[in-house]
Amino acid sequence: LFAGETEFVKGVVAMSGLPPADRMEVCFAGRSNVGKSSLINALTGRKGLARASNTPGRTQEINYFTAGDDHYLVDLPGYGYANAPLPVVEKWQRLLKQYLSGRQTLRRAFVLIDARHGIKKVDEDILKLLDTSAVTFQCVLTKADKVKAKDREAVLAQVRQALSKHPAAFPEIVLTSSEKGDGIETLRAIIATLE
Ligand code: GTP
Ligand code: MG
Repeated sequence: LFAGETEFVKGVVAMSGLPPADRMEVCFAGRSNVGKSSLINALTGRKGLARASNTPGRTQEINYFTAGDDHYLVDLPGYGYANAPLPVVEKWQRLLKQYLSGRQTLRRAFVLIDARHGIKKVDEDILKLLDTSAVTFQCVLTKADKVKAKDREAVLAQVRQALSKHPAAFPEIVLTSSEKGDGIETLRAIIATLE
C-alpha cells in the first residue's frame, strides 16, 4: 500500500469539494500541532508531501492524498488553539465536524494525541462526535521521542481509561514518533488491513 506512489489529490474547503466517495479513506485528526501532517509524511516516506510546521494551524484545508489505488489518506486541520484569525479557525472547525460526522467512506479516524499530554477536554469533544457518528476511531500517540520510557506507561493508562468510555474506540493504541520512526510500520500495517 505504501510501496507505490502517493500523491496529493486536492485541498478541500467545503463538503461540496470532497472527491467522489469511490474508495475507502482514513483520516488523521488531532489538536493543532500534534503531528498529523508529519505522520502522513512518515507513513508515505515523503518528507514534504503534507506541509508540517511548528505554527499551530498550519493545515487549514482537508488535504487528500492517495495511497495505492484504493485508499485515501486525509490530513485534517487541527482543533483547539491555532495561530490563525478566529473566523478562519471557526470555518475550518465547522468543516472538520461536518467531515467527521458525514463522510460515508471514512473507514477509520486516527485521533492523534501528544504522548506528553494525553487526552484533553478538546479531544474528548471530538471522541464524542465520533461515537455519535459511529465512526470507528483509533488513538495514535505522537512525539514518543519526547517522552522518557518510564513516563510512557502513565500516559498509556490515561488514554486507555478514557477510551474505555467510548463505544466507537478501537482498543489498540499505537505509540509513534514521526521523527524516529517508532510505530510507523505498525500503523502502515493497520491501514493496509482496512478494507
Ligand atoms: P496543524 O496542521 O497545525 O494542525 O499541525 P499538525 O498536527 O499537522 O502538526 P505538524 O505535523 O505540522 O507538526 C507540528 C510540529 O511538531 C512540527 O514542528 C513537527 O516537526 C513536530 N513533530 C511532529 N511529529 C513529531 C515527532 O514525532 N517528534 C518530534 N520531536 N516532533 C514532531
Ligand atoms: Mg497539519
